[in-house]
Amino acid sequence: MPKVHWILPNGDRVSDDVNENSNLMDAAQMNGIAGIDGECGGCLSCATCHVVVDDAWLALCPPMGEVENAMLDIVSSPRQSGSRLSCQLAASPVLDGIVLHVPQ
Ligand code: FES
Repeated sequence: MPKVHWILPNGDRVSDDVNENSNLMDAAQMNGIAGIDGECGGCLSCATCHVVVDDAWLALCPPMGEVENAMLDIVSSPRQSGSRLSCQLAASPVLDGIVLHVPQ
């Protein structure tokens, strides 16, 4: 199973092995990651699953869709170059070891 690392705002790291094709918002919730609320359940209408993908992993992520891009303009913490909505990212062998920073 691909491993995912979340870096919390205080610098702590939470890591887990995530089933392939599981979206990374669901994985965060299963791991009790505070700040990734996923209020819409992953239907791309809340932007409460904002994460910042570590620079080393950004190019390996699938391209961002138009709706995700628009939603990132309304996230509560400042949008950054690595900002993504984690419900739109899925665990995969390519992303094995991905590092996601949880915004404040
Ligand atoms: S969970 Fe709502 S947009 Fe990702």
